[in-house]
Amino acid sequence: MLVSAKEMLTKAKEGHYAVGQFNINNLEWTKAILQTAQELNSPVILGVSEGAGKYMCGFTTVVNMVSAMINELGITVPVALHLDHGSYEGTLKCIEAGFSSVMFDGSHYPIEENIAKTTELVNICNAKGLSLEAEVGAIGGEEDGVVGAGECADPAECKMIADLGVTMLAAGIGNIHGKYPENWAGLSFETLAAVSEAVGDMPLVLHGGTGIPEDMIKKAISLGVSKINVNTECQLSFAAATRKYVEEGKDLIGKGFDPRKLLAPGVEAIKATVKEKMELFGSVGKA
Ligand code: 13P
Repeated sequence: MLVSAKEMLTKAKEGHYAVGQFNINNLEWTKAILQTAQELNSPVILGVSEGAGKYMCGFTTVVNMVSAMINELGITVPVALHLDHGSYEGTLKCIEAGFSSVMFDGSHYPIEENIAKTTELVNICNAKGLSLEAEVGAIGGEEDGVVGAGECADPAECKMIADLGVTMLAAGIGNIHGKYPENWAGLSFETLAAVSEAVGDMPLVLHGGTGIPEDMIKKAISLGVSKINVNTECQLSFAAATRKYVEEGKDLIGKGFDPRKLLAPGVEAIKATVKEKMELFGSVGKA
């Protein structure tokens, strides 16, 4: 059964560790992440972007696939199915489809509009027992080859959004999606400390988990981060392992072209990445 992310994140915040959100793209991705969480007895959040939802044939397909997989694989650790960076309309669609958690990313709106839309969604999510993530301060990333710097959120705005009753808050602290550029200035711990102080018990979310050095991850957790999103790193691991298999000519040996064989090294690579992150985040054994 899918659960809201509220309880797992409240426990993580109290216990000074973080729960990983790993984005899914297909059956192999989902299976690899669920099995690793179960093996390590860790809670887990499966992230689905609107684009990935479309790719997987719509949000209801995703809900049905993930729910069935939890049953068929005998997964007993807490699993939240979460919309990643939702638009207002996308968020409503995911709620309708049966997601247990959603993110409404209103960070590109003026703060008044972010507040108005987030307020409406808080009411809907509360009534249905779903967790809601909000965002303040846009998280940068690569678009058309140009890497935009991550903004730093205004702690006063973070408090305004947190006070609306969201479950968790993503605050920009210089983090960006995808690989970090060589000249990246690092996370702004000054901003994180100020946001943390402003929002109190609210679990904070760190996006752009790929490529953040271990010491920065640990420091971020010590300052109140309880959810860390990882996407690109699983994609890079999967691609490298698949490339190796093909470059070694293994798809040409026997039935090596069978997708169940061809995709197996990539799946193992995703599992290894997820394991490494769960160990680093401290969520192992916390289910
Ligand atoms: P990365 O792709 O940089 O790991 O970021 C993932 C993320 O933040 C999803 O919201």
